[in-house]
Amino acid sequence: MQIKKFPKKILTRIPPYTIKKPRGTRDFSPREMEKREYVEDSIIGVIESYSYRKILTPTFEHAELFQLKSGKEIEEHMYVFEDKSGRRLSLRPEATASVCRMFAEELRGSRLPLKLYYSCPMFRYERPQMGRYREFWQLGIELIGPKGPESDAEVIAIAYKSLKKLGLKFQLEIGHLGILRGLMDALDVDEEIQNMVIASIDRGDLKNLKKLIDKQILFDLMGIKGDKGIIEQADNLLDKYPEARKSVNELREVIHWLDLMNVEYKIDLGIARGLEYYTGTVFEIRVPGLGAQDQICGGGRYDDLIELFSGVKVPAVGFAFGFDRIMKAIDLQEIKIPRKVTDVVIAPVSDTVREEAVKIASQLRDELSVDMDLMNRKLEKILEYAGDIGARYTIIVGPEDLKKREVTIRNMESGKQKRIRIENLREEMIK
Ligand code: HAM
Repeated sequence: MQIKKFPKKILTRIPPYTIKKPRGTRDFSPREMEKREYVEDSIIGVIESYSYRKILTPTFEHAELFQLKSGKEIEEHMYVFEDKSGRRLSLRPEATASVCRMFAEELRGSRLPLKLYYSCPMFRYERPQMGRYREFWQLGIELIGPKGPESDAEVIAIAYKSLKKLGLKFQLEIGHLGILRGLMDALDVDEEIQNMVIASIDRGDLKNLKKLIDKQILFDLMGIKGDKGIIEQADNLLDKYPEARKSVNELREVIHWLDLMNVEYKIDLGIARGLEYYTGTVFEIRVPGLGAQDQICGGGRYDDLIELFSGVKVPAVGFAFGFDRIMKAIDLQEIKIPRKVTDVVIAPVSDTVREEAVKIASQLRDELSVDMDLMNRKLEKILEYAGDIGARYTIIVGPEDLKKREVTIRNMESGKQKRIRIENLREEMIK
């Protein structure tokens, strides 16, 4: 196999090489990772309280997996490449198609419902801008098996409760693609045009929409937004379209369950969603003030996608949070996220006590987070460092104290110090 050599140019240049990260990717500092992990754990806490379990699918898949039903919007932005054997692969732009593939390949015999979640990076070759990246993280859930409106409501409630728990202010909007599709079926609009109509609605491209369809009733329907009372408006508008009305009724039932679950929402029958696989309830969550990319979550029911890969019709519903946008919203709304604490910094006063200091550090690490000075700094500098990183205590290990098998503990907040015997140190520190 011929392996491409590293281009010579770079090797002949003189260091330091200025190699930057690729456009649309980011580095995350320790503090950013601390915040991201806190938020991720908080959301996962809610998801797991509904008994969903974590899965992971490959970072790349056969490109056709996403081309089958994800829609033009996804297809145009895929990172497609050929591997050394000529396979056409794609970095995953989203995970729902992967989860359906996984169901067909690995989980087909499982007891239903399957309650799955994932938290991993996705890749879309989009024009980077605030809140839109080429590598971004999604935290999503997929509920496979149930068909009833209660299951749609459970999925929506999980998204809602996860964001409430974080203290975020947001707007949840719910629609139903069966209403739009039911109407277009009755108007004899073929599936390809329907998909284009839905994509145009999703992009807010009214000009194109008018070119595709000139039925006023569709525009009237799209304009129905508000509290649950407006469902009756849709029912009246669609009195000659029984298929579309069936979906209105489904939406009414989903809402009944959402009310029981204390979820606040708005109805918006103009929600279309860019992905092609949705068949029923759809929903989006926005955070006002985030700018053009204010959608932090999107999801809905997709009852035909699994059949495409497994040959068996299995209904499913799910959503994905745009995790990076949630983090932006947390910053915007100034939600405080606690720092991880370092309990102790160990400060050896001289080289002669270093070995004993290392022993003390490793003993305490069974229960505490312990930072041992590795820079051979003077005590004063170590204390400054301990203050900077917010350590709760510094343990000063000095030769004179050691002779008596003692060390000095300094409380970094009060500045108070006390001597203690090494044999009692562990007990003292964890009390
Ligand atoms: P989606 O709406 O394409 O749905 O993506 C979900 C969320 O990912 C969006 O609401 C947005 O917050 C975030 N997102 C999308 N693109 C970017 C980007 N370039 N940079 C940053 N964030 C982004 C899906 O992917 C479906 N698989 C969701 C789903 C799961 N439906 C059913 N189950």
